[in-house]
Amino acid sequence: MLTVLTSGKAAPGVTTTACALATTWPRALLLADCDLAGGDVAPGLMAGRVGAETGLLSWSAAVRHETGPAAAASALLSHAVQIPEHPMLGLLPGFGTAAQGASFTAATWERLSTALAAAPRSLGRDVLVDTGRLVGDRGCWPVVRAADLVLLVVRPSVRSVHAAHDALRRLRTELGDLGTVSALVVGAGPYSADEVAGTLGIPLAGRMPADGVSASVFSDGVAASGRGMRRSPLVRSAGEMARRLAAADRSRTSVSA
Ligand SMILES: Nc1ncnc2c1ncn2[C@@H]1O[C@H](COP(=O)(O)OP(=O)(O)OP(=O)(O)O)[C@@H](O)[C@H]1O
Ligand SMILES: [Mg+2]
Repeated sequence: MLTVLTSGKAAPGVTTTACALATTWPRALLLADCDLAGGDVAPGLMAGRVGAETGLLSWSAAVRHETGPAAAASALLSHAVQIPEHPMLGLLPGFGTAAQGASFTAATWERLSTALAAAPRSLGRDVLVDTGRLVGDRGCWPVVRAADLVLLVVRPSVRSVHAAHDALRRLRTELGDLGTVSALVVGAGPYSADEVAGTLGIPLAGRMPADGVSASVFSDGVAASGRGMRRSPLVRSAGEMARRLAAADRSRTSVSA
């Protein structure tokens, strides 16, 4: 299963939610940080634990002359970081800077999307992708097109829903329709998650509670006790959603919350 988490502008919590889902995913998983503006997982959750020989750039250099999708997919794992406290999770770090992101050509994005789409079959791993904000025509659109499920992350606020509308317009243009796209509502605000999804005209895949303490562990690598984290509202909701998404993939049913 290839799942993409994305957003419009306004930083609704894509990276935090992607990390929360990844660390609670019930099967082996690869989390790929594909934010064109520069990856936040390496300097955040993984601060101080990511070497230069890992990540998107080193993967693309290694598979430059490699054509087979299965080989390109298995190279993804060689360039991923293993997370000791989460043995089923591999992290493919993203770009160090936006300039590095711009160095990826359309052909490289195509190659990456083929490798990520092949990973469930050839590596036995589901894949979760953080695309960052969909604010331009460049970037990881091939990966978004290859996804089984696109989760548009949005806060229940006018500002964030406004940004999500703009992202949906781009998604419709790039994908042709919104058949794979659902809303994932983060935090509290003046509107309910159902109202947000209804306004956007897409199904509601799930909601994450407002939980700033746990969120800062995922977004900024703030230290936390394992037991406290496991019991936190964010991790419990993420675990419930991760199990539901993984099960829906097995039975090919709707992901609606
Ligand atoms: N469920 C949550 N509850 C409380 N705070 C949250 C939650 N999710 C994210 N945050 C906080 O919101 C801020 C932005 O989160 P994050 O970096 O994940 O957003 P993003 O959408 O990935 O942003 P960007 O577009 O810049 O990559 C961070 O300070 C993070 O700790
Ligand atoms: Mg982010």
